[in-house]
Amino acid sequence: MRLADDLQVKGKRVLVRSDLNVPLDDGTITDDGRIRASLPLIRSLAEQGGKVIVTAHLGRPQGAPDPRYSLAPVAKRLQELLGRPVRLARDVVGPDAQSSVEELREGGVVLLENVRFEAAETSKDDAERGAFADQLAAFADLYVDDAFGAVHRKHASVYDVALRLEHAAGPLVAAEVEVLERLETDPERPYVVVLGGSKVSDKIKVIEALLPKVDQLLVGGGMCFTFLKAQGHDVGSSLLEADMLEQCRTLLESGKVVLPVDVVAATAFSADAEHDVVDATAIPSDRMGLDIGPRSVQLFGQRLEGARTVFWNGPMGVFEMAPYAAGTRGVAEAVAALDGLTVVGGGDSAAAVRALGIDESRFTHISTGGGASLEHLEGKVLPGLAVLED
Ligand code: 3PG
Repeated sequence: MRLADDLQVKGKRVLVRSDLNVPLDDGTITDDGRIRASLPLIRSLAEQGGKVIVTAHLGRPQGAPDPRYSLAPVAKRLQELLGRPVRLARDVVGPDAQSSVEELREGGVVLLENVRFEAAETSKDDAERGAFADQLAAFADLYVDDAFGAVHRKHASVYDVALRLEHAAGPLVAAEVEVLERLETDPERPYVVVLGGSKVSDKIKVIEALLPKVDQLLVGGGMCFTFLKAQGHDVGSSLLEADMLEQCRTLLESGKVVLPVDVVAATAFSADAEHDVVDATAIPSDRMGLDIGPRSVQLFGQRLEGARTVFWNGPMGVFEMAPYAAGTRGVAEAVAALDGLTVVGGGDSAAAVRALGIDESRFTHISTGGGASLEHLEGKVLPGLAVLED
């Protein structure tokens, strides 16, 4: 892959695809990690005298402008962090985007409005995406993809535009790929993977791909209840994917899957609900498990001890609610305390680390891409990377 550092950018218009898909609560950014991770490239291009045109998505709008998904709060935060003006175009390729790009000076930065306001961005039809990519490409001389979190999407701004412009990978994409390759190619042992999050079905492919390669797979989060049920235990009203039970049984046969031994079980999905720690094998019928319990944190900590390579994806419980945050905190602390290669895989687990106030520098790497890093570990070809390798 050619890197952004190899490009001559002075005076050139550079289209940058960033992943600025940050969580918002009523218009307020609750975790700006992805914006921070995108700064080095944008800053470097601007400092070199490039004319920087950033394109990005936010959430999943339905292919039309929707104020709830406007990049306005992101533009504001990007400007603060960058310390230079960022002009937000009110459209993606329309008149305001065109005049914003025309008026760009060397070192200037424009952020185009949410690229998913254009239905063609995510279209399955190559011609439709291509026609839109033509419009985006017309804005620029060069294209740099730094949106690691979106490289698994065959979208116009990720894939098709790279076919139309001289292109390179940004430093974030390069760093993320390097770390994933370290996990995939002869990882130092013991190699322990910790998976959480709500659904087994979301993770089944990565579990199947990882299980032969890892020494142990620790499972927490909502998905542990389908495994517990597969072992024949009652899980009360906890999250359960009945159609995954058979697959969970097969995975358990590997002998490498470690499940919680206790859980925090509540009467309702609420921070105020009555809750207690119960055995994972005896969850009362009117209770739902919302976190792993203290004995499980201890067990997972023991299994992590001495690990030389760790990949952790997915919270252990509903960490956003204080009564159910201890499991995620305990596992995060156990991983952070290790000496080996420790990788936190994107999305919710990265947000959890920051929300719980755990020092990010205690991990080797915190990925910005949840789905992208999982698909990479599954061994899939990611369109946004393949197109850069050409
Ligand atoms: C993410 O949040 O994982 C990336 O920004 C990709 O978003 P998407 O899943 O909506 O394509």
